Amino acid sequence: MTQLATELPNCVLRPWRAADKSNLVRHADDRRVWRNMTHTFPHPYTPEDADLWLRIAANPGASIQLAIEVDGEAAGGIGAIAGEGIFCGTAQFGYWLGEACWGHGIATAAARALASRIAAERLFARLEAQVFEWNPASMRVLEKAGFTRDAVLRSAATKDGRLLDTVLYSRVLAKSGAVSLGPG
Ligand SMILES: CC(C)(COP(=O)(O)OP(=O)(O)OC[C@H]1O[C@@H](n2cnc3c(N)ncnc32)[C@H](O)[C@@H]1OP(=O)(O)O)[C@@H](O)C(=O)NCCC(=O)NCCS
Repeated sequence: MTQLATELPNCVLRPWRAADKSNLVRHADDRRVWRNMTHTFPHPYTPEDADLWLRIAANPGASIQLAIEVDGEAAGGIGAIAGEGIFCGTAQFGYWLGEACWGHGIATAAARALASRIAAERLFARLEAQVFEWNPASMRVLEKAGFTRDAVLRSAATKDGRLLDTVLYSRVLAKSGAVSLGPG
């Protein structure tokens, strides 16, 4: 993806920077964020975890990983992790935001903007997200970003000591039968 920042009324989407470390730890070290993320998001979130993340985000390969900057500081992240092999046209779409920034439409604006950019640049044919059954705010974000609810995956995940259903959402960006992805 082009590395240009996307400026939105309430946030900026831009590549992660080494200087984001302290803000990343401050916003990410939160059980209420961790509880809604996959196992790759640690808790507690230490400076070493931030170092590892900033290295990963600096070399995303076919995936996209951007910081969500609010009021001049990195306050969350949004990305699309590229599938492999026959699933190279599908990306796992995800995001999180520091709790101090919740409830202002920021995740919705970020999700809409990134999905639109991926569509415009023809980077993936399909975006997917699995949301834990207890996370209606994220379901709402996805719905407002043009995703549709595909299925309930019963007992699909284990989180915070519980077995839970996930809700699979997708946004299809290219019709099946399309010839290729990418700028060509
Ligand atoms: C989910 C998350 C990204 C939302 O960020 P946000 O910037 O507060 O979201 P927005 O303000 O753009 O939109 C939230 C929507 O959910 C709604 N909402 C919030 N809590 C809700 C609840 N308990 N039940 C139903 N809807 C709820 C809001 O009303 C809003 O919808 P509306 O604009 O139609 O009123 C944020 O809470 C977060 O980072 N959570 C932890 C990590 C996470 O869940 N990541 C996603 C994993 S799938």
